Amino acid sequence: MKLDYDFSIKEVSEAYDGPVGILWEVLMGDHIHVGGENETQRLAEKLEISENTYIIDLCSALGGPARFLAQKYKARIVGVDITETMLKKAEQRSKEAGLTNLIEFRTGNVLDIPAKKNTFDIVWGQDAWCYVTSKSRLIQEAVRVCKSGGKIGFTDWIFGSIPITTQEEADFLFEFMIFPNMESIKGYKNLLDKNGCKILEVEDLQEDFKKHMHLYLDKVHALKETIEKEFGEDLYIIAEAGVNAWTKAADENKVSRGLWIAEKL
Ligand SMILES: C[S@@+](CC[C@H](N)C(=O)[O-])C[C@H]1O[C@@H](n2cnc3c(N)ncnc32)[C@H](O)[C@@H]1O
Repeated sequence: MKLDYDFSIKEVSEAYDGPVGILWEVLMGDHIHVGGENETQRLAEKLEISENTYIIDLCSALGGPARFLAQKYKARIVGVDITETMLKKAEQRSKEAGLTNLIEFRTGNVLDIPAKKNTFDIVWGQDAWCYVTSKSRLIQEAVRVCKSGGKIGFTDWIFGSIPITTQEEADFLFEFMIFPNMESIKGYKNLLDKNGCKILEVEDLQEDFKKHMHLYLDKVHALKETIEKEFGEDLYIIAEAGVNAWTKAADENKVSRGLWIAEKL
């Protein structure tokens, strides 16, 4: 079965520049990942973030997590994203929160991270690396900018333990999300291992993913009128069908979400 899709960074970025970016914020808030702020805190605790920890957030979007890490821990964060609209909003909101001394945003492709080697204590990512065309190059880049003894900690949407059965289902799931491909628990472990990292923790968050997908589907239904009014009836139909398909696939363990923490040796 074909599970690689020809979505370029330009297509992903155009989508986040338009209604897609706004819709995900409506559903998830400005931490655009499953579980919102609680999940940011959980990852921060696992990574032992504290005052002055120097973090790079790869695919930082609206910068909700960056502001949380700066506000709560006084960590220093560089956010990297390719989408101008996301970066502008992230910068504006961080300025309004008075956090520009701790947060900086850089425009760039995470396949060629705009940062020097061996710079950061923590390389951070939440539910976004699924959009990146080459996970192999991405992990290589993440390891390059991480200090020796530093950590790479991230969550992402992945394949579950049961294979997707039909090409039609795979096409619908990937095309709705604009994912060029996806990794698995083992796939990311292998990539980290291959790039000289020691794996410290891996979690398959399948049950939590199911629970949250149901919550997002309920939210789509509850916000039907708002979504139709702001984005049009067609977008509501697409969003409902897409979130519904992902919820069903999560229930069937065909798609999941995982967490990885590794140390750069
Ligand atoms: C789901 S959002 C990220 C959410 C964010 N990590 C958070 O937790 O709030 C996906 C983001 O990835 C960015 N993105 C996708 N591919 C990228 C790439 N190759 N380089 C940089 N940014 C990318 C998009 O522009 C978008 O803002």
